[in-house]
Amino acid sequence: MTQSSWEVPLANATETQELGAKMAKMLPPNTVILLGGELGAGKTTYVQGLGKGLGITTPIVSPTFTLINEYLEGEIPLYHLDLYRLETPSAIEQLFPETYWEGKEVKPGITAIEWSERLPYFPKHYVQVELLKTETSRQAQIKWHLSIAPPK
Ligand SMILES: Nc1ncnc2c1ncn2[C@@H]1O[C@H](COP(=O)(O)OP(=O)(O)OP(=O)(O)O)[C@@H](O)[C@H]1O
Ligand SMILES: [Mg+2]
Repeated sequence: MTQSSWEVPLANATETQELGAKMAKMLPPNTVILLGGELGAGKTTYVQGLGKGLGITTPIVSPTFTLINEYLEGEIPLYHLDLYRLETPSAIEQLFPETYWEGKEVKPGITAIEWSERLPYFPKHYVQVELLKTETSRQAQIKWHLSIAPPK
């Protein structure tokens, strides 16, 4: 079920980073953040904010070519995946993205995935952060997806 959804206006890149930093401080280990939004919408900027919130000082750069960047120096690990260059579901399967969100073979952390709409399968629970851009404004739309039955 999609539990709730809300919109956050993002006046500039600093605000995009601040949203990431705030969320990183509240989210527990094993959280998956599926990022959506067109080219240049601010996905990597948001992940840089996650890094700040976790106390990571290594500069966070887009893993467009490396596909996965792991940052282990913060409060909890940050795993940053970018699926932009992977055009087929099988190419993504070969990356075993579930390794990160299961957190069994790796230390549990926050996994942030750019171009997550390309995933052939999804984690059970995740936070969806859509970065939306018009000519005059930008905003984030945040939705929590929790696969639990609603209380009766
Ligand atoms: N809220 C905002 N307002 C204005 N500019 C922003 C905002 N958020 C990010 N930016 C700027 O937009 C540009 C693109 O950001 P970024 O690289 O994070 O996008 P992206 O979604 O990761 O792009 P890609 O699809 O190529 O991976 C950067 O110059 C960044 O500083
Ligand atoms: Mg990016």
